[in-house]
Amino acid sequence: MPGAIYAEGLVKTFGDVRALDGVDLDVPEGTVLGLLGPNGAGKTTVVRCLTTLLTPDSGTAFVAGFDVLKHPNEVRRSIGLSGQFAAVDEYLTGRENLQMVGRLYEMRAKRAKERAGELLERFNLADAADRPSKTYSGGMRRRLDLAAALVVSPPVMFMDEPTTGLDPRNRQGLWEVIQELVAGGTTLLLTTQYLEEADHLAHDICVVDHGRVIARGTADQLKAQIGGERVEVVVHEPDHITTAAQVLAGFGKGEATVARHTRKLTVPVAGGAKLLAEVIRELDVRGIEIDDIGLRRPTLDDVFISLTGHLAEVKDEENGADGTNGGRGAKGAAAAKDKHEVAKDKHRAAKDKHKKEAAP
Ligand SMILES: Nc1ncnc2c1ncn2[C@@H]1O[C@H](COP(=O)(O)OP(=O)(O)OP(=O)(O)O)[C@@H](O)[C@H]1O
Ligand SMILES: [Mg+2]
Repeated sequence: MPGAIYAEGLVKTFGDVRALDGVDLDVPEGTVLGLLGPNGAGKTTVVRCLTTLLTPDSGTAFVAGFDVLKHPNEVRRSIGLSGQFAAVDEYLTGRENLQMVGRLYEMRAKRAKERAGELLERFNLADAADRPSKTYSGGMRRRLDLAAALVVSPPVMFMDEPTTGLDPRNRQGLWEVIQELVAGGTTLLLTTQYLEEADHLAHDICVVDHGRVIARGTADQLKAQIGGERVEVVVHEPDHITTAAQVLAGFGKGEATVARHTRKLTVPVAGGAKLLAEVIRELDVRGIEIDDIGLRRPTLDDVFISLTGHLAEVKDEENGADGTNGGRGAKGAAAAKDKHEVAKDKHRAAKDKHKKEAAP
């Protein structure tokens, strides 16, 4: 049986741009799908097609059991949507905005008022609740928009980059709200640029690029696809980066990536702790002082780089020029990556459960 969100062969073109080039999705009820991809990959277009805001050129889609093309009204009644850009009525206060949504969904006035109050608390907007929302900051508008999407608890929710522009505390708060929603049985499709977020919240992840799904699976499955552990070294002297890269290349199974500004080098390896000891010895022999070294599992960042080749935004010119890029010639891109150290407290109970079910 198809899941709460199901799509097959979705194609959408805008003139010459093939925004969606045959997208298939299947999201089981009560789970979270993280749609991940670089700018322009087609994430918002997927969301707009599934929420009836756009008609695909071809393909089929079902949401909450309803055909998106044939029964758009039923689909609309079954979903909540928080778009990439906040859609709130600027002249109404935060409280009025939320009450209005409740009334649109045919809530009784008293209940709509209560619900608005709950959500304003929940999203840290209580103090600003009675100010017109045009006086809100970007992050406040974002939160109000998300609150509006949650006035009723629809069986299927779509959130397009829900935490973009939120500060860490509010992001954490939203993660909690999302986890509660899903625990209550809601199915969620969420797009995000934050790999850490997908890792933390999503049961399954689809990586999209150029309108196609280029990889899918649980975070663990995606990480397993790109191989084992990474050795990560922070060298003390910027001048030692090149030599350190050569050393790592000798031990690695792939290219070393270099984040020059943080003096951090990363290379995929096989061999675990024993190999780590050898790397340390070799660096010592070469007189390279290190600030930090460790063995870590691949992150979704690594997956993303390896799949899309994006994130290699800061090209390591020297690395290319002097041929130290893992001893593999000058053309390999040295990706600069230093963000998103994956949250430690991930993989909570719900996700573990899902993974067990997903395991062959
Ligand atoms: N209304 C439109 N008219 C013309 N081109 C469009 C339109 N909407 C989207 N596109 C194009 O389709 C492609 C996919 O866009 P989309 O907004 O789905 O990307 P995205 O993955 O959501 O990107 P971002 O991370 O920047 O939000 C892009 O090349 C975009 O320029
Ligand atoms: Mg988008």
